Amino acid sequence: MQQTSSSPGLEQLSEPDLTAKLEPELLPKHVAVIMDGNGRWAELQGLPRIAGHREGINSVREMITLCLELGIQYLTIYAFSQENWNRPMQEISALMGLLEHYLSTERASLIEQRIRFRAIGRLDALPESARHWVRTTEQETAHLDKMHLTVALSYGGRAEIVDAVRGIISDAQSGKIRPDHLNESLVQRYLYTHPLPDPDLLIRTSGETRISNFLLWQLAYTELYFTATPWPDFRRREFLLALIEYQRRERRFGRVLSTVSS
Ligand code: FPP
Repeated sequence: MQQTSSSPGLEQLSEPDLTAKLEPELLPKHVAVIMDGNGRWAELQGLPRIAGHREGINSVREMITLCLELGIQYLTIYAFSQENWNRPMQEISALMGLLEHYLSTERASLIEQRIRFRAIGRLDALPESARHWVRTTEQETAHLDKMHLTVALSYGGRAEIVDAVRGIISDAQSGKIRPDHLNESLVQRYLYTHPLPDPDLLIRTSGETRISNFLLWQLAYTELYFTATPWPDFRRREFLLALIEYQRRERRFGRVLSTVSS
């Protein structure tokens, strides 16, 4: 597994120079992000942890804007894992409050930008008011397709696979599918992420080099990019550096030669 920020020298380039290095036909279609380091970012500045999450939303906004500008159609972000339920109740409530505030105030802007919003995860575990805004935003943006923003909430990759297996068993028992039809593409249809394509690029911020139970099935061939930058500081320049690094990778999908970039 390669850990990298970017090649030496690129850090010195201006944003327009970094943008000029991108080759539009080699951009990823789907970027997934583990937005880590909000709490540490806040603590380093003597602020409460929630200040880091709040600032992290500004990074989400910048990333959405850059995806729209570059034509990256799919962005999937890990906002709340199943493990996050073990955090202090005060932080959980504050995070749910931020989610509700984001959805209730930015629905209009998502619609205006023609962004389809989806949430994936065990959404039944969310407080009713958060579920309300998730459902409303999903319904109001269901017809849009310029970009697809998917937010993982109460999400766990293993739980997703368990839920897919449950769905398959239930449909097999009721005769909707036949056990001998089981193959990879059938399993894929039962995942929360169906019908989204698998991510081409996964970015994890703040120095950790783990997948942490995110999109376990979908990341099978995804390029991994790790950076020490905490999520609240991961802005346009950082995203451009990740995209340039992605374009330098070779994606072979187990084959001998299929070059994404030269
Ligand atoms: C990880 O940082 C981040 C989270 C657990 C939450 C991320 C949530 C947001 C950015 C806001 C919600 C998003 C939307 C779309 C409304 P951490 O707290 O684990 O940081 P640490 O590792 O430094 O403690």
